[in-house]
Amino acid sequence: MALWGGRFDGATSALFKALNDSLPFDRVLVLEDIDGSIAWAKALGRAKVLSSNEVAKLTAALKKLRAREADEKTSRIATASDEDVHSFVERELIALVGELGKKLHTGRSRNDQVATDVRLWTAGRVIALRGMIARACESLVSLAEQESAHATVLPGYTHLQRGQPVLLSHWCLAYVEMLRRDFDRFGDALQRVRVSPLGSGALAGTAYPVDREALAKDLGFTSASRNSLDAVSDRDFIFETLSCAALCGVHLSRLGEDLILYSSSEFGFIQMSDAVTSGSSLMPQKKNPDAAELLRGKSGRLLGNLVRLATTLKGLPLAYNKDLQEDKEPLFDSVHHLSLCLAVVPECLKRITINRERMKTAADDGFSAATDLADYLVRAGVPFRDAHHTAGVMTRRALELGVPLHGLTLEQMREIEPRIGGDIFKELSLKAVLSKRNVKGGTNPSRVAAAVKEARSAVKGMIKAASAD
Ligand code: ARG
Repeated sequence: MALWGGRFDGATSALFKALNDSLPFDRVLVLEDIDGSIAWAKALGRAKVLSSNEVAKLTAALKKLRAREADEKTSRIATASDEDVHSFVERELIALVGELGKKLHTGRSRNDQVATDVRLWTAGRVIALRGMIARACESLVSLAEQESAHATVLPGYTHLQRGQPVLLSHWCLAYVEMLRRDFDRFGDALQRVRVSPLGSGALAGTAYPVDREALAKDLGFTSASRNSLDAVSDRDFIFETLSCAALCGVHLSRLGEDLILYSSSEFGFIQMSDAVTSGSSLMPQKKNPDAAELLRGKSGRLLGNLVRLATTLKGLPLAYNKDLQEDKEPLFDSVHHLSLCLAVVPECLKRITINRERMKTAADDGFSAATDLADYLVRAGVPFRDAHHTAGVMTRRALELGVPLHGLTLEQMREIEPRIGGDIFKELSLKAVLSKRNVKGGTNPSRVAAAVKEARSAVKGMIKAASAD
């Protein structure tokens, strides 16, 4: 039976039920709905709406229901046909305690109830996501430590053309930076998730003298919302969560793309392990980087879910409207898929094979040092613009002769620029090229070693912070 039958004469149509019911997806909120109900019963007790005996009975029954629903084997929600999770919990409560169960909804509306449930659920998931981001960072830092020890060099790219060599550990830390920002963004969003709408009633505030701040604290929120109209219709916290998830997904898509490229035969820099790749049903030689491709591909749904919610919210009049029921599936979907992606990052990285020699050969093709050739000329007194031109002419000459830049003889170089001396060859070596980038954030090996250390301690802090959330 629906929660609102009194005013109605006729039955609802099956088609309307199919359109309107949210139980098929909002059932994931069942534990939060019960927790919210326990806190509400206590609040009604404190407001002297319920006797302490009634509160005790309701609480005991709700706890019993909670234990039953928390266990997959005994849970009944999957086969229930109630309108939504709130109707389910209320009906089951009445089945357990009888008439008393009907008192629980005093002064409460499903409007403040659903907003509370979703906030409780979101807070829990954001905390878990932060933990997973920290773990993903940890795996990148571990790879950075491992490859720092080998001084592994990677050709750095711009426009996907070889630009300048960088340490592979520097590349790892670039992704750590992105994920650290995601971690902070989720943490910032969490503060606004943890505001309690309960006690806002349908839209105007409950008519019972409920201590909303005490109620908020009972539920682990930091405060009670300031405005009831806003509280029942505010879905900013979902918007922000989806936005953080989408951006994190975009970062993972870039990591995925680098892994895909680097593991192709054309690059041959890395090999992904069997644990995260698949074969082809037709081409026996294939090893496809599916996990990395899904890191790239899932970003589509994460962005899509943000747009789904934004479109639903745009232009909605105050306060609650049934459109808001559409907030849940994008949220659940993004949290689920981002969790999968984050969990797969360590799985991909801890088993990766790094082809250090191949990377080094690609980085040391001679041309990645062209900037350094120009810098050498600058030190010999040539203005940078002219030096850039001369380095370009020398690059062309080397290409014509089919040799790397450092494969030109000193005479061949001097024909183009007589100010070049014999010390140029040392200048163009990988070692020199890397060590010259000795600025904050640069790829100089000691700078990177310090950055790896800093990142390791930051990750420790993140893991600690995420578990203290
Ligand atoms: N299933 C609804 C939702 O998800 C619950 C709130 C219903 N409120 C109402 N006034 N009908 O939004």
